[in-house]
Amino acid sequence: MKTIYILNGPNLNLLGTREPEIYGADTLADVEARCAARCKALGLGMVFRQTNVEGELVTWIHDAREKAAGIVINAGAYTHTSVALHDAVKAVGLPTIEVHLSNVYKRESFRHHSYLSPVSHGVICGFGVQSYELALDGLSGILNTTRKG
Ligand code: DQA
Repeated sequence: MKTIYILNGPNLNLLGTREPEIYGADTLADVEARCAARCKALGLGMVFRQTNVEGELVTWIHDAREKAAGIVINAGAYTHTSVALHDAVKAVGLPTIEVHLSNVYKRESFRHHSYLSPVSHGVICGFGVQSYELALDGLSGILNTTRKG
């Protein structure tokens, strides 16, 4: 079974109470449960993690090289600041989908630039928790079309 790493960055542990008018009422545990159900339906294994530490995300992206077929990443604010995450995703070379709960292009201009988009297969934003499910559907499609044998 192919495994997907679903990686979450800073402040996403506060989902449910953090700016619910932007991010919705679902908690990170709710997001994890929805992802687990979708992975199961797609026949994928899942590793779901959150950290507030940039370097930890870098390390998990490196781990994915050995242990995962693809990555779904919501890097939170590090999306807009982190050359280290850009380099890590590029170095590992796994199909990666950048996700955001909110439509970052409808928000402050500092959220319009992403260091991850140029090294990601695709980007999904603005669908709340469904952004993650859409990312998993897309990743599953990529993995199936690139399957060998
Ligand atoms: C976010 C958007 C980012 O701009 C923000 O810093 C976050 C969450 C989202 O999921 O909408 O922390 O990645």
